[in-house]
Amino acid sequence: MLGARGGWRGLRRCASLPRLRVREALAAREPHGEVQVQGWVRSVRSQKEVLFLHINDGSSLENLQVVADPSLENRDLTFGSAVEVQGMLVKSPHVMQNMELKAGTIHVVGPCDPWSFPLKMKKRHPLEYVRQFPHLRCRSNTLGSLLRIRSEATAAIHSFFQDNGYVHIHTPIITSNDCEGAGELFQIETSNGAKESAEKAHFFNVPAFLTVSGQLHLEVMAGAFTHVFTFGPTFRAENSQSRRHLAEFYMVEAELSFTESLQDIMQVMEELIKTATSTVLSKCPRDVALFHKYIAPAQKDRLEQMLKNRFVTISYSEAVEILKQASQTFTFKPEWGCDLQTEHEKYLVKHCGEVPVFVINYPYDLKPFYMRDNEDGPQHTVAAVDLLVPGVGELCGGSLREERLSFLESRLQRLGLTDAYQWYLDLRKFGSVPHGGFGMGFERYLQYILGVDNIKDVIPFPRFSHSCLL
Ligand code: 4AD
Ligand code: MG
Repeated sequence: MLGARGGWRGLRRCASLPRLRVREALAAREPHGEVQVQGWVRSVRSQKEVLFLHINDGSSLENLQVVADPSLENRDLTFGSAVEVQGMLVKSPHVMQNMELKAGTIHVVGPCDPWSFPLKMKKRHPLEYVRQFPHLRCRSNTLGSLLRIRSEATAAIHSFFQDNGYVHIHTPIITSNDCEGAGELFQIETSNGAKESAEKAHFFNVPAFLTVSGQLHLEVMAGAFTHVFTFGPTFRAENSQSRRHLAEFYMVEAELSFTESLQDIMQVMEELIKTATSTVLSKCPRDVALFHKYIAPAQKDRLEQMLKNRFVTISYSEAVEILKQASQTFTFKPEWGCDLQTEHEKYLVKHCGEVPVFVINYPYDLKPFYMRDNEDGPQHTVAAVDLLVPGVGELCGGSLREERLSFLESRLQRLGLTDAYQWYLDLRKFGSVPHGGFGMGFERYLQYILGVDNIKDVIPFPRFSHSCLL
């Protein structure tokens, strides 16, 4: 029997052999000479004449079949164990796979007790079950696929902006501004500061928070580069039990200068979503298919429709009229001037045919200080846009920004924020241009394309579902 030490010696011994990832081995067109493949055992089947293993290294949903002489079997070769296999990559006689590895040696690098390991061989574990094991669930098929998709989607979003001439900006994570003004802030202190008395000075001399949006910093940069974006961690002290809210999530934000029309912003949102989705569908077809087969069977058709058709646009006032005329009774009565609730968003998306819907021109009093005044009445609105999508509700929020100094000054004055936002007012004094932008919740985007109901199932580490905060 080979224990961990035997395995380690094995690793050193065959270091000169070409090392293939499972994905590369499966994609090989021709048999190879001797190679080595490393991974975790997904199944072991011992027959009289032959030993079959399936191994996975996270590079693809499909496992590599290993065929070995039964004499290579040992007690540590179990489901979940880490192995290194040396052998010849040959054409497989089985129709379901192209290549297989004919093993010469199998080293168990890290054994795994299959009785106490929470994942079981050949079992499709529900998402709720694997959520209890944030440190192990990445070894399940579903989370493996999700995390590969998440990685491709991240790259696709960066490529979309880079290909369209946007400059990527790392906006600060620790900041003193509350961009949205909604008070959902996490304040930060040093661990000593938290223990000591409140009259002690703040670490940065001013209260500091984890960012709720990089927008204001992007606006600074849009004043020099015209097209900028950021894609980073964002924090909001919100209800952690919701299926659509996280305390820590990733937001994609873009800001465009010399833009006078909300349509320009909406066009970028639509192109971003369509381009990133097409890329993900073509780069990870099997991973996406797993979700569309087992988690959300209707989602494939919905995405195809979404990619083919233009998104629908309605105004906030039209949305309220649609809701008022609905035969359905809502928990929150729709009224002009009130925020749209999840039940309203769902109804509007259904009413428009289960396609993405832009809702534009929201009440002035509902939205943050930076949104551009439409100077209309008696129903006073700002040039804001929210994008609602099937199954999720709000996916993006954006607006034209108030670029006129006098408008911004009087709004900040009424809110008592003039001193805190002197630097922001400066941007309107020195070469101010019409501009606008938007933010898209990355986890909600993944929920939308994959049809995942609970946002905790599209993040690498679900918080508050385990006794420790990983
Ligand atoms: O609509 P929001 O609050 O917009 C802003 O923060 C703007 N400053 C963005 C901008 O214009 N640059 O947030 C944008 C998106 C939402 O539409 C939603 O998809 C997501 O961020 N989001 C959350 N996602 C997960 N958990 C939360 N707690 C979220 N809060 C917002
Ligand atoms: Mg919003």
